Amino acid sequence: MIVDAVRSPIGKKNGTLSHIRGDELSAQVVNALVGRNGVDPAQIEDVHWGCVTQVDEQAWNIGRNVALTAGWPVSVAGTTVDRQCGSSMQTNFNAAATVWSGQLDLVVSGGVEMMSRVPMGSNNGSMSPLVYEHHDIVMQGISAEEIAKQWGLTREELDRIGYESHQRAARAIDGGRFEREVVPIELDVPAPDSGATLVRTRFAVDEAVRRETTLEKMAALQPAFIPDGVVTAGNSSQIVDGSAAVLVASEAKASELGLEPRARFVSFGVVGVDPHLMLHGNPEASAKALAKAGLTWDEIDVIEVNEAFASVVAQFLADTGLQERYEAGDVNPNGGGISLGHPLGATGARITATLVSELERRQARYGLATMCIGFGQAIAAVVERV
Ligand SMILES: CC(C)(COP(=O)(O)OP(=O)(O)OC[C@H]1O[C@@H](n2cnc3c(N)ncnc32)[C@H](O)[C@@H]1OP(=O)(O)O)[C@@H](O)C(=O)NCCC(=O)NCCS
Repeated sequence: MIVDAVRSPIGKKNGTLSHIRGDELSAQVVNALVGRNGVDPAQIEDVHWGCVTQVDEQAWNIGRNVALTAGWPVSVAGTTVDRQCGSSMQTNFNAAATVWSGQLDLVVSGGVEMMSRVPMGSNNGSMSPLVYEHHDIVMQGISAEEIAKQWGLTREELDRIGYESHQRAARAIDGGRFEREVVPIELDVPAPDSGATLVRTRFAVDEAVRRETTLEKMAALQPAFIPDGVVTAGNSSQIVDGSAAVLVASEAKASELGLEPRARFVSFGVVGVDPHLMLHGNPEASAKALAKAGLTWDEIDVIEVNEAFASVVAQFLADTGLQERYEAGDVNPNGGGISLGHPLGATGARITATLVSELERRQARYGLATMCIGFGQAIAAVVERV
């Protein structure tokens, strides 16, 4: 059961959340999660925490450190999971699987990424030359370009998806659609006129959305990755800071503690795909999750496809035939990584929280969230509102 799902507001690059450590941000998020559900942290058996760049303050098994930073009893275990951009969808999968198998009853799943403080790639990874013998490994932005080329996507199409993302996110914020999922964060930030003075601040609203953007402004942006490319800062996910968490329980535990679950995980699907194109696995992962659930797209009311890049969204819509459902607002109804930002390790739990809120708003039954993953994978989950 998904008892509840919450997230921090997402902070723009070098913005408000760049003044707090990731473990401390996460601690506030998980404390808000248990606090508002009246759960004693001593009841939590394990924290499964997604994080991609596991170095500096995100190193040393931040999953365990989140529980310690939150002031939870030492009995609460914690682990850290790296499935790249799908890390905290994988922690959902792990939490659900441990509950389904009867091994755990109450787990916190979620993640964090402080991309301002711990830059993407700063863990200095490397791969064996044997991998390069078989695969042309490139950075994500190049794969986004390759997808645009192979699927015949134009700059205009990609910019329209980027623009729409900002419009939808702004409408969602203004309409209070994130109220049930966003928990305010308390932190000290330097005063605007005197960096030395710190001011206690309550940060409560997503910060990266560019509500003033226009298609003309977006069309003027230079390609970000290759000179003649179509992928720009305007149609790529933004580099941001954030954390999100989901409280996962067995039915028995939820009932024992008097909790009222909001939804449940129905199924998951993971796939590996060509590491060069890398980001095109969403349709396949979704098909797997749908097959396990015994459902078709027609039965899915709301779909979240992580906006790693607009080309990923366009390729997903083309391959699944869901373009009309996107236009109708059933796919990414409240924006996504392009507008809100994509804090890598936190995004799986973030889109889970957003999906559950949206299913409730529509009083709808089934939702699906899918995410492409670095080096050629994808993960999808079907959830059911209860
Ligand atoms: C694309 C990318 C390289 C751009 O980085 P950046 O240059 O630091 O991005 P910024 O947000 O500073 O935007 C660059 C410029 O474009 C402008 N811009 C961005 N989006 C805009 C929009 N929608 N409308 C108007 N202007 C926009 C910014 O204002 C900025 O202008 P400035 O330089 O005059 O301030 C970076 O966002 C990126 O790498 N994204 C993908 C991350 C990723 O790979 N994640 C994993 C996914 S698999």
